[in-house]
Amino acid sequence: MASSSQEEVSVEEEAVSKSNFKTCNQIAFYRRQKRLCPGKSLYRALLDTVELSHSHVKFQIVSEECKEPLLVEISEIEGNIFRLKINEKVPFKPRYEVPDVLIKEPVCLSLTVLQKDADKLVLTCADEDQQLHVTANPFQIQFVCKGEIVWSTNSNGLLYFEHLQPAPQSRYQENQDDLGLWEEKFGKFSDIKANGPSSIGLDFSLHGFEHVYGIPQHAETLLLKNTSDGDVYRLYNLDVFGYKVHSKMGIYGAVPLLLAHKPGRTAGIFWLNSSETLVLSSRTPETSKQRVLPQTDVRWMSESGIIDTFILMGPQPFDIFKQYAELTGTQALPPLFSLGYHQCRWNYEDEDDVEGVDAGFDMHDIPYDVIWLDIEHTDGKRYFTWNKEKFGNPERMQKQILMKKKRKLVVILDPHIKVDPLYTIYSQAKERGYFVKDRKGKDFEGICWPGLSSYLDFTNPEVREWYADQFAFSAYKGSSEILFAWNDMNEPSVFRGVELTMQKDAVHYGKWEHREVHNLYGFYQQMATAEGLIRRSGGLERPFVLTRSFFAGSQKYGAVWTGDNKAKWQYLKISVPMLLTISMAGISFCGADVGGFIGNPEPELLVRWYQAGALQPFFRGHANMNTKRREPWLFGEENTRIIRNAIKERYSLLPYLYALFYRAHKVAEPVMRPVWVEFPKELETFGIEDEYMLGKFKG
Ligand code: GLC
Repeated sequence: MASSSQEEVSVEEEAVSKSNFKTCNQIAFYRRQKRLCPGKSLYRALLDTVELSHSHVKFQIVSEECKEPLLVEISEIEGNIFRLKINEKVPFKPRYEVPDVLIKEPVCLSLTVLQKDADKLVLTCADEDQQLHVTANPFQIQFVCKGEIVWSTNSNGLLYFEHLQPAPQSRYQENQDDLGLWEEKFGKFSDIKANGPSSIGLDFSLHGFEHVYGIPQHAETLLLKNTSDGDVYRLYNLDVFGYKVHSKMGIYGAVPLLLAHKPGRTAGIFWLNSSETLVLSSRTPETSKQRVLPQTDVRWMSESGIIDTFILMGPQPFDIFKQYAELTGTQALPPLFSLGYHQCRWNYEDEDDVEGVDAGFDMHDIPYDVIWLDIEHTDGKRYFTWNKEKFGNPERMQKQILMKKKRKLVVILDPHIKVDPLYTIYSQAKERGYFVKDRKGKDFEGICWPGLSSYLDFTNPEVREWYADQFAFSAYKGSSEILFAWNDMNEPSVFRGVELTMQKDAVHYGKWEHREVHNLYGFYQQMATAEGLIRRSGGLERPFVLTRSFFAGSQKYGAVWTGDNKAKWQYLKISVPMLLTISMAGISFCGADVGGFIGNPEPELLVRWYQAGALQPFFRGHANMNTKRREPWLFGEENTRIIRNAIKERYSLLPYLYALFYRAHKVAEPVMRPVWVEFPKELETFGIEDEYMLGKFKG
């Protein structure tokens, strides 16, 4: 939610105010990179610099425009994965390399040199049918399997690398061409870039592929669309209340993993970069051996960091899921209760309300496992506290009402912390320097639910440790072992901030600018929260944490949902491709607000949504505060009966779902999966997004 006066906004008018968010032409690094058109690359490889070690091949490349070399590092990782890293050979300052996402240092295999001269380097991979061909001038790499090119990189000449440089004297003067090198304006906001331009980009050609998927999160179709019209996919975590359906704009989460599929081969590209990223995709025919083969060209652009990509070679869809999990981990096994039905609303008013709703489920013979409390349960949106008037005895509520029936409670804990010296979380964090700083070194302050707030710097391991400790029963008064967590607003959301988020020139632990870590912020909050719940149980129990913002690897910490959707049929429909895409990107535990968060669903929509949600991995009814109450029994006997049946069906499937989650955890099989994944040879299935599979096809 992006406005503090949400109550006043009429539902019909609640639309995304597009002017709050950038279009791609308003993104300076996009404008800069777009000046480079497909064609002959400016880079050539200096193959006399090749160094071969047991784990990788390294060589330098230079461009016509910049004599400072870049260092290319190619390695083969166990399990049919290739890694391509490009960084400055001698950067003026270190560039950000994403930490904490890879679960371990990948195990590399030796590549052997088959041919090496000034023009060409041919490397043989562990599987001798596979070779890497590096052409020196123009620089490009081709991956050849049994004589056929599967993918190539920089074959469109779009390798782009802005070297870090000292700031010019007049660094704050807006550049004439409006390229946003040292300063970038958007509306009334100005982003002052401490490191100046630092963007990177690279193209991949996927030979013979015309079906590409992935790169969540967008409210878009399962199959990625051609972006030749200039409408590109944006990966930038943002709080977009009532996001538009069929849009490539960035919403709450980002996983830079793209999948490509053709009969006989699935491949993946994992672009490990946590700064703002754009993905362009286009399909073109290609003539080869008198046959016209389709080809998909994918161009990645990021605002900062280094080029660090992993090419997953499958060849089967399930190999891709395993390969990606080898790098980023598998889905945490959810506690069984969290696969049941969750009842949420903004807000369950007080303890009586909770008691009444809880009893309502029993009275209407509807099973459920978890009731949720939104921001109003706290003392003035101070997380880890309780509103004393409404929740005067939270222990009793948990022990006497919920625990007795083996039910659980989830409470919300957002990353913004109310500026209030009397609030212990604030004063401790302030004193210890645990907040993100602005570019001048003061604690960053922005507006969110509590009013003026500072934001915990979860990128700092010490902050995460401290935050995890806040879940100890001794620290979190009124909490019990049945209380679990919901991390919201962690893009992070900053009302009245640029694009409703934190300025990119804010500063984190290690003096890294927010621009470098933006897409990781929510990932780190969920990591710290999950750790807190594990620690609280003495390491004995699995945690449950729902997060709105996520990145590659978030699957290790819990569940995600698709944020503030609307109570409209088109949002029910789009939830399927959205969840399938998130699932393919490793995060099996995902769901959409049942009923639609914004607005009042007509009874049939609500009923249908329950029926759909009952078969989706995370199953939670949720509603905005200005909507009518919609507990499942409020729509007449017949509708109550149908909803009851849907929820009961969910419960009858629980053992099966739990087993599927076990497989997701153990062997990285997505719980909810597109039909094509089970029928990889059947062309007709490749675009199906209104049906899906839960588990394997056993024909
Ligand atoms: C955000 C969340 C929503 C929550 C609300 C209040 O809009 O997406 O689920 O109810 O904030 O906390």
